[in-house]
Amino acid sequence: MAHQIEALNAQFALPEQLWFQTGENGLPKVQIDNKLASAEIYLQGGHITAFQPRGNKPVLWMSPLAQFQRNKAIRGGVPIIWPWFGPHAIDKHKPQHGFARTTEWQVNATKALPDSSTQLQLQMQDTPATQALWPHAFELNLSITVGTELKIELTSRNTGEQTITIGGALHSYFAVGDIGQIHIDGLLGHNYIDQLDSNRIKRQHEAIHIRQEVDRIYFDTEDTCTEGICAIFDAKLLRQIYIKRTGSRSTVIWNPWEKKAKAMADFPDNGYRQMVCIETANAVDDVRHLAPGETHTLSQIIGL
Ligand code: BG6
Repeated sequence: MAHQIEALNAQFALPEQLWFQTGENGLPKVQIDNKLASAEIYLQGGHITAFQPRGNKPVLWMSPLAQFQRNKAIRGGVPIIWPWFGPHAIDKHKPQHGFARTTEWQVNATKALPDSSTQLQLQMQDTPATQALWPHAFELNLSITVGTELKIELTSRNTGEQTITIGGALHSYFAVGDIGQIHIDGLLGHNYIDQLDSNRIKRQHEAIHIRQEVDRIYFDTEDTCTEGICAIFDAKLLRQIYIKRTGSRSTVIWNPWEKKAKAMADFPDNGYRQMVCIETANAVDDVRHLAPGETHTLSQIIGL
C-alpha cells in the first residue's frame, strides 16, 4: 500500500494541490486542496467522498458509519452507478447498481487548470472480474474537476464488437440543514415512477418537499439539465445547491426516511434528516445503446 501511494505521488501529485494518501481501512484516496475548494476521492469506486468550496460548508453528505471496505459500496458522497441502475434486470444475484462503485479505478492524469481548479482523470476497463458480471468490452473514463463548482464527467466507450446497453447514475448525496426545511425545484410538471408504490406513474404538481421515504425516477427531465434549474433550496443552511447536467434524461430522488435508515448498517438512524440524493441518471428507458467504438458522456456540475 505504502508503495502504491508513493508511486502515485511520484507520478501524479501536483504541488500544493493534489496528493495521494492512505485512507480509511488502507484504501487509497486522493486529496485535493486548491485556492477554490477541497475534495477527497477514493480510488475504489472513483468515489468523491467530500467537496467543499472555500468559505462554505460541505456540499456532499457522507455517512459517519460508511464502511470503507474493499469491494463494498461507500455510503454517501457520489457513488458512480454503472453499467446498470438499480437491481440487475435479469439476475438478482448481481450487485445492485452495477460494479463501477466497488471497483478500484486507475489514475490516468492529473491537471492544474488555468482557472485554479484541479482535475483528476480516472479510468476503468473490462477485466475478467467485470466480464464475469457483464460480458462486454468497455473503457470508462471519469473526469473530476474541483473548483468553485464540482464537475463530474463519466464517459463510456464501447471497445467491443457488439452494441452494448448501459445505464447508470451519478448518485449524489447532498448535505442539507434539515430535511423538513428544504425543497427541490425544477421537476414541477414532470412524471415519475414511484418505486415505493408498485412503480405507478405519477405527476409532480409542486416543488418537492420530503416528508416521508421517497424513491422516484423522474423521466424526460432533460429540460431541467442545462441552466441549473434543478436545485435544492435550504432554509436552514441558507443556501441553494444547483445541479447542471448533460447526457441524462432521468433524475432519481431518494431519501430512505426513518425506518429504512434504521435498517441500514452503514447509515445513522437520524441521518435521513441531513441528506437527500438527487441522481443524474440513465435509468429505465433512458439507458443508452452504444455501437462498437461509440461513446456516451453523463455529466454533472454541482455548485452553490
Ligand atoms: C437509489 C434507488 O438510487 O439508491 C433506491 O432508487 C436505493 O431504490 C438507493 O435504495 C440506495 O441504494 P444502495 O444500493 O446504495 O443501498
